Amino acid sequence: MSERKRILTGDRPTGKLHLGHFVGSHRNRLKFQDEYECFFLVADLHMLTTKPDKESILQIADNGRTIVMDHLAIGIDPNKVTFYLQSAVHEVYELQLLISSLVTVERLQQLPTIKDMANAAGMDQIPYNLLGYPVLQAADILMPRADLVPVGKDNESHVELTRQIARRFNNAYGEVFPEPAPYVVGGTLVGTDGQAKMSKSLDNAIFLSDDAKTVTRRVMSMYTDPARIRSDIPGTVEGNPVFAYHDVFNPNVAEVEDLKERYRAGKVGDVEVKEKLAKALNDFLDPMRERRAYYEAQTGFVDELLYNGTLRAREEGKQTLMEVKKAMGLTGVWNRISRAAEKRAKKVGVEA
Ligand code: TRP
Repeated sequence: MSERKRILTGDRPTGKLHLGHFVGSHRNRLKFQDEYECFFLVADLHMLTTKPDKESILQIADNGRTIVMDHLAIGIDPNKVTFYLQSAVHEVYELQLLISSLVTVERLQQLPTIKDMANAAGMDQIPYNLLGYPVLQAADILMPRADLVPVGKDNESHVELTRQIARRFNNAYGEVFPEPAPYVVGGTLVGTDGQAKMSKSLDNAIFLSDDAKTVTRRVMSMYTDPARIRSDIPGTVEGNPVFAYHDVFNPNVAEVEDLKERYRAGKVGDVEVKEKLAKALNDFLDPMRERRAYYEAQTGFVDELLYNGTLRAREEGKQTLMEVKKAMGLTGVWNRISRAAEKRAKKVGVEA
């Protein structure tokens, strides 16, 4: 059907997206949607590696909808992208098992990401599926035979592993998979509290779905230069989150330069700097708010989109799995047995 190269990427459904997600990764998805055939997965099976409790599982549906809606708000075109729910594509589970002979336990244990996730989740032992997290991710990527995988720096090693698995599969059984290239998207955004990273759990985030009042409130209470106790003493711009945000979100470069100059000279108050930032951020978020309102007015739109995308992904999965099993010789095993059984059933039928 399509000659375009394919992208597979996605997110664990942990909740709403914030500005850090946007800067670090999601803004790139916008430019990809025209050049590539895009598959964006809601990686709910990956949630089971650190949060397998039932209460968390029951939140998946809502969080999945939230993340798809956030994509639409960003400007992802629902006609261009296939969104799907990972857990509803059982071919992914099968593929994970079939490729798992191509990777060793030692290889997985060497990945720092696994230990980091275990630590973050407060686990002192590593469950089997957490060790297999990157293998499941490889199955995600190989399922639609993706060419390109946009990921954050922390996930680059998982794409490397996927490449290795693809190579090994092709060598062992025959050419089925392209070697997917990682597209590492960079940049973290500091939190509103000045902590290294914006994150929901640190309560230092501004969400894409925050309304104007909330954004203004969060900006007005942002961390700035702690040494600057009065507005007439010179302040530091470098490493100051308020200016870091101005640099990213305020398109009025002259205004930002003027604010920096006056800040360094002790000639502007925090309030003015923050008010201008709140305005810039709200201008930036306004088109997202409009798109969100547009889609929210169409009840069930996101569910329908995710549903149809999942059906589409299943078709892909079916096709890939068929080729995988054929290449491996597994189809032949079943065919021989079923043919023999059918033959016998017929014979017995005739005798009876
Ligand atoms: N590991 C990604 C995360 O950190 C989510 C994910 C699952 C993913 N499968 C993927 C990303 C495949 C890119 C490709 O949330």
